[in-house]
Amino acid sequence: MSNLEQTLSIIKPDAVERNLENEIKEMFKSNGFSILNEKKIQIEKSEAEKFYKVHETKPFYDDLCGYLSSGPIVVMVLEKENAVLSNRELMGATNPEDAEEGTIRKKYGISIDKNSVHGSDSIENAKIEIDFFFKD
Ligand code: CMP
Repeated sequence: MSNLEQTLSIIKPDAVERNLENEIKEMFKSNGFSILNEKKIQIEKSEAEKFYKVHETKPFYDDLCGYLSSGPIVVMVLEKENAVLSNRELMGATNPEDAEEGTIRKKYGISIDKNSVHGSDSIENAKIEIDFFFKD
């Protein structure tokens, strides 16, 4: 049965800064994802705080929001069968040190903060995150 889903992906400032945008997009495409929508933007810290609101009680929240707003990012809507889980597998563990070979974070991530990509963690959050960046 078809289970086509959409998920939100962000190429974070550390990866955009190192010109990894095209290589990372190629990894998505070669793993069967279609990029339905994309834009390169820089957001205000206040917007990052809204985006990462689920983490507001975490000790790393302030740094995280400062970081996401520190430089250009690429936000994308990815589509594939089981896109949310499939993207999480392709990204690898949050901490690049724990990520498996062949994953984006293993290949490009620098640290748990500069881990090169964000991806929605559930179907529900994917809808919220896609709306956050692409609702007009
Ligand atoms: P991301 O998938 O964008 O979601 C929240 C981000 O917080 C995560 O990737 C990490 O880059 C960052 N982060 C920093 N410290 C931690 C931590 N201790 N646990 C989880 N995420 C962290």
